[in-house]
Parts: sequence; C-alpha cells; structure tokens
Amino acid sequence: MSITEQHKKLERNITLMAAATLVTVAIGGLVEIAPLFWIDNTIEEVEGVRPYSPLELAGRDIYIREGCYVCHSQMIRPFRDEVERYGHYSLAAESMYDHPFQWGSKRTGPDLARVGGRYSDEWHVQHLENPQAVVPESIMPQYGFLRENPLKVADPAANLTALRRVGVPYTDDDIEKAAGDLAAQADPDADAGDLAERYPKTQIRDFDGNPDKVSEMDALIAYLQMLGTLVDVNSAAAQEVLAQEKGR
Ligand code: HEC
Repeated sequence: MSITEQHKKLERNITLMAAATLVTVAIGGLVEIAPLFWIDNTIEEVEGVRPYSPLELAGRDIYIREGCYVCHSQMIRPFRDEVERYGHYSLAAESMYDHPFQWGSKRTGPDLARVGGRYSDEWHVQHLENPQAVVPESIMPQYGFLRENPLKVADPAANLTALRRVGVPYTDDDIEKAAGDLAAQADPDADAGDLAERYPKTQIRDFDGNPDKVSEMDALIAYLQMLGTLVDVNSAAAQEVLAQEKGR
C-alpha cells in the first residue's frame, strides 16, 4: 500500500481518524502537563519576598472581610498607562504567599499593589475615616469604626499554621511568637524582639495615631504600608527575573 493509499484509508475511516487524532493530541498534552508534576515551583523567586508578619496578615484579613477587594485589585499589568500611574508592573513572586490572591483588572478604585509608602499613616487614617474629605468625588465607603475596634485575632499562631500547610514558609519560631509579634508591631513601647530580623522591612510603629490600643485600623494600615515595598524592582536580581518573564 502506498502512502497515499494509507492516507486515504485513514481519512475515510472515522474510527481510525479519531484514534489517530487522540494519540496526536495526547502527546501534545503530555509534553505540556507532565513537567508540572516534577517541578516544585512555577514561580521564579525574587529576593525580598517574605511571608506577611502576623499584624500585616491580620490587616489583610480585615481588608478581605471589609470587601476592599471588590473595588481594589493588586496587580499592576504591564501596560504603559498602568505602569505610569501605579509603578513597576507586578511580579508573580510578589503575590506568591497570597491566599487568596488579590489579582484582578476591575478597577472601581485604584490598584493598590504598590500603595505602600506612597502616603503617610495620617493620610490613611483620614482617608479611611472619610474618603470624601480627602477626595471629594470619591465613592469609597467610610471605615472610621476600624479605629474604634480593638484588634482581636482569636489565634494568630493557628493562622500562620494554616498558611504553612498550603506552602507559606513560616518557621516554628514564627508560629510560636505569632501572638507576641502581633501585639509588638503596633506598640511603640513594646519590645519587638527579633521581629524585624525574621520579617525584613517590617514597619514597627503605631499606625492609627492612638498608641494606647492596637486597633483594626493599625493592622489594616500596617498591611497597606507594606504593599509593594518588599521587592526592589530596580535591583540586579529582580531585573534578571524580569528579563526571564519577558522572554516567556
Ligand atoms: C465602593 C468601592 C470601594 C471600596 C469598597 C473601597 N474603596 Fe478604596 N477607593 C475607592 C475609590 C473610588 C478610590 C479613589 C478615590 C479616593 O482616593 O478615595 C479609592 C482609593 C483608595 C486608596 C488610595 C489609593 C491611591 O493610590 O490613591 C486606598 C489606600 C484605598 N482606597 C484603600 C481601601 C481599603 C483599605 C478599603 C477597604 C477597607 C477600600 N479602599 C474599599 C473605592 C473603594
């Protein structure tokens, strides 16, 4: 049988054709999927990315509880308008410890991926209490009650343990000291111990302007002020990762 005849047979026999198609597609699928079972991580690590400190994590939980994510994303896309407005586009590694992630492209309010350090703590307090006092046309709701609410986290160590189970590299030491770390980060009089060593670049201070108590506002502002501050996007190591991401 010549090759043309063979081909004719294949094309005219629907069962044979279906079987041959399946084999071809399966090879393509295996080549794409199989390697994922053997590599530990699909995210290129970037220097500076660390898990959230217990206070930042508590702030993040409040952020999610209050639905801030409904209006705000944390993913700067590599488009000129976004990069000019919000700063360097987000790297995958910057949200590798986020459970759940805060990506998105619906922007009722501005993207917050790099809002850390852009405003003072006082600005955040004022803006959260009454956004319209700062930006008259703002449609953001008022969150003044967060400053009245004392921060209550039932079991900070359990929160860290749960995240460790899904791959966030908290150490035993971090988990053991979670409750102490949580209180110490927002209290200027407390001994923060080795908090800053275990969580590099943690900001330790009173955030909401009331040093007498640790409020939900303290936690939320601690979280907002660290967003996007961990990675130095201009460092040589980060540039290398960027070049690789671009090449994909
Ligand atoms: C109904 C939508 C909505 C919700 C919910 C919302 N915001 Fe906003 N937010 C906005 C809008 C619109 C702006 C832009 C105007 C302004 O600055 O108030 C904004 C601005 C901001 C800014 C300033 C960003 C910048 O780069 O200038 C921060 C920070 C912020 N919001 C944090 C929060 C936090 C934290 C929460 C949850 C407690 C929240 N927002 C909930 C709509 C929202």
